[in-house]
Order: sequence, then C-alpha cells, then structure tokens
Amino acid sequence: MSGTAQLLDPGRTGAQAADLERNLSRLIVGQQEAVREIVNIYQMHLAGLNPPGRPIGNFLFLGPTGTGKTRIVEATAESLVGNPRAVIKIDCGEFQHSHEIAKLIGSPPGYLGHRETHPLLSQEVLDQYHTDAVQISFVLFDEIEKASDALWNLLLGILDKATLTLGDNRRVDFSRAMVFLTSNLGADEMASILNPRVGFGISMDSRRRRVDGKLSAKITRAGVEAARRKFTPEFVNRLDKIVVFKPLGEEELSRILEIELGMVQRRIFSGEDPRRYFVFRLSPAAKRHVLEAGTDMKYGARHLKRAIERLLVQPMSNLIASEQIRGGDLIAVDYDESAGRLCFFREGEGLEFQEMTRIVADQGLPMRCAAVAAQYPSRRARPASSRGS
Ligand SMILES: Nc1ncnc2c1ncn2[C@@H]1O[C@H](COP(=O)(O)OP(=O)(O)OP(=O)(O)O)[C@@H](O)[C@H]1O
Ligand SMILES: [Mg+2]
Repeated sequence: MSGTAQLLDPGRTGAQAADLERNLSRLIVGQQEAVREIVNIYQMHLAGLNPPGRPIGNFLFLGPTGTGKTRIVEATAESLVGNPRAVIKIDCGEFQHSHEIAKLIGSPPGYLGHRETHPLLSQEVLDQYHTDAVQISFVLFDEIEKASDALWNLLLGILDKATLTLGDNRRVDFSRAMVFLTSNLGADEMASILNPRVGFGISMDSRRRRVDGKLSAKITRAGVEAARRKFTPEFVNRLDKIVVFKPLGEEELSRILEIELGMVQRRIFSGEDPRRYFVFRLSPAAKRHVLEAGTDMKYGARHLKRAIERLLVQPMSNLIASEQIRGGDLIAVDYDESAGRLCFFREGEGLEFQEMTRIVADQGLPMRCAAVAAQYPSRRARPASSRGS
C-alpha cells in the first residue's frame, strides 16, 4: 500500500450511465429529477451495489397527465435495449377481479382453461427484450391507485422480494427488472397550486408561467403527501424513489414540439417505400400556431400531440393521398394569419435522401439523422409517379 491517499470523485459516472443520461436528456424535457434518479439506480446496478433480492429499482412517478411519466420509461428502454416498446405495461384498472388477476399470473392447475392461459407476467415475457449486452426488464404498472387488494399483494411481493408466484406455483424473478409505478394522485392539488383557475378560460399568461424552485417544491410536497395519505407505509417503504413530475410550461412544450416534429419526420422516413420519402419544415409562425393550439396545462403534451396530428399530420396525409406531396419534395409549412390555419407549399422537389437528411439536421430536429441515413445508404428518393420507370 502506498503512503499517499488520492482524492476520488464520486460525482463522476461511468460511460454507460453517462450515455443513458445524455439520451434521456435529449428525449425528455424538463423532468431532470426523474432522469437523475433513473441514471443513479442504473449506475448502482452496473456497479453491482444494488441491494440483492430486490428489483434493480422501484420508482413511483406522480404528477399530472401528459408530463412524461410513461415516456421516460419508454425512453429508458429505447436507450438501454434499443426499443421504446420493450416495456411491459400493466394497467392496474384492468385487474380488479380475481378472474382478471388470473390473466396476469395464470390460473392454478386443475382450473378450467388452465392450459390455455398464458400469464401476462411470466419469466419469458419479462425477459423477451433482453439483449446480449443488457439484461434488464422494464415493467410499468399504470394507475396503481386503481389496483385491487389482490393485485396489491402481488405488487408488494414484487417490490420487496423481486418475486411473483404464478398460478401454477412457478416463480418469476424480478431482480433484473426496473419497476415503475405511476399514479395521477395529487394532480388536482398540483394544478390548483400552479393556477387556481386552471381549466376553462385559462389565460396565456398563466400558461407561460414557469414552475420555479419554490413552486416546484410545493408541487412535490403535494404529490408526496397525497401518496402518503393514500398508500400504506409498508408500500411506501418499499419504494426507492418517489418522483413528482412537474406540469409543463410553454417553454417546455415548445421543446417537446421540436422533438415531436422530429418524430413525424422519422415516421415519414420509416415508410416501406423510400421513393415516397419527403421532408417538411415549419416556419416560426407555423410553430407558434401549433404551440398555441396545443398548449394546455391540464393535458400537458398530450394536447400538443393531438394538435400536431390535427393541424399537420392530417393535412399532409391528404396531400400525399391526392399526390400533391410526392417523394423527394421539400414541403414548407407556414401560418396564414387571415385564414387562421397552416398552409403548405412545395419548395423543392426531386431531392436525394442525403439532401433531405441534411435539411432535417439543419433544423436541429432530434431524430438521429445519421442513424437513419446509415440505414438507407443507397436508397434514392424519386417521385412516386416515376415508380417502375
Ligand atoms: N417531459 C416530456 N418530454 C418529452 N415528451 C413528453 C414529455 N411529457 C410528455 N411528452 C409527450 O407526450 C406524450 C404523453 O406523455 P406520457 O404518456 O408520458 O404522459 P403521462 O405522464 O404518462 O400521462 P398519464 O398520467 O396520462 O399516463 C408522450 O408520448 C410524449 O410524446
Ligand atoms: Mg402514462
């Protein structure tokens, strides 16, 4: 042993945890506490220091609808196993009665239909998305306040012992699972802290209101208190972390708009026929219009997504179906103030795929263009009407 002690820096994380943090910060807007907690637990798992015989992490996510509780779980799965759908979702409201619990864990041998039941929570289901590099399962129990007593008992066993016993007595091991529980509990109190007049007639000023430190602490307290009132201490003590998701203000929604526009462009680029790929871009006025139509404190980014579908995706689908938009087009979307709606122009045509990805990258749409471009190196987008020629 050498005589000199070296100061170590526990604030530094490993490269894998840093990657996860970067990816989550790119995909999730404004919920830094949740990002940090997921990264911390993942880092502990990588270091092998998680308490044994328990899931990797037990999280309770509270907060209003449309603020990213489900999205962050999908984004974690996307980042770690490359697939946002690699999340096993259990909607607790659907498992109220004992025959519904049987759908989850299968019925005991001898019961009618025993052989036909495939439990929704078997080991195979849990492990199905594991990759060679990452063997972690992501299990999400939504709306846990609606869970029946029977489901609660199952949940407590999972959270405490990382074990679930199926109807036929087989055991399912959750020690390589991250377990996420979500609830809207306390959301009404949070809304009234933020704006006593939330709902109809909400003013633009209050929509713009930022959730500052003090307000944020008040909202967190409201969420945690609501959880402690509703849930038993034995449940709360099994949680590693309770995170209260904050309502999203206009600034956050405007960043989510950019992410969602990137997703729409990605959808266009993932169609089966590359000859139909085109690229679109919105003017600042067009973005403002979508944002104003989609800003609603009560429904968070859900409302914004609906506005994007209605104002942008629907009209573009019509333009594609009527062959006014063709493969290789550059479509400019602007806001027509006198008509009060978006208008669409063809600004360029016959673009190569590489040129299109460059246009997307120039707009800063976070859609990993490089990855998409690498996927289709030699595909050339040509007008669909020239197909077969
Ligand atoms: N913080 C956020 N960052 C990025 N996107 C978000 C965020 N919040 C919401 N979104 C977008 O809005 C959609 C709906 O959000 P999400 O499903 O995560 O809501 P939720 O908080 O789970 O609501 P609920 O309580 O109703 O289940 C997401 O798919 C995502 O596209
Ligand atoms: Mg959700």
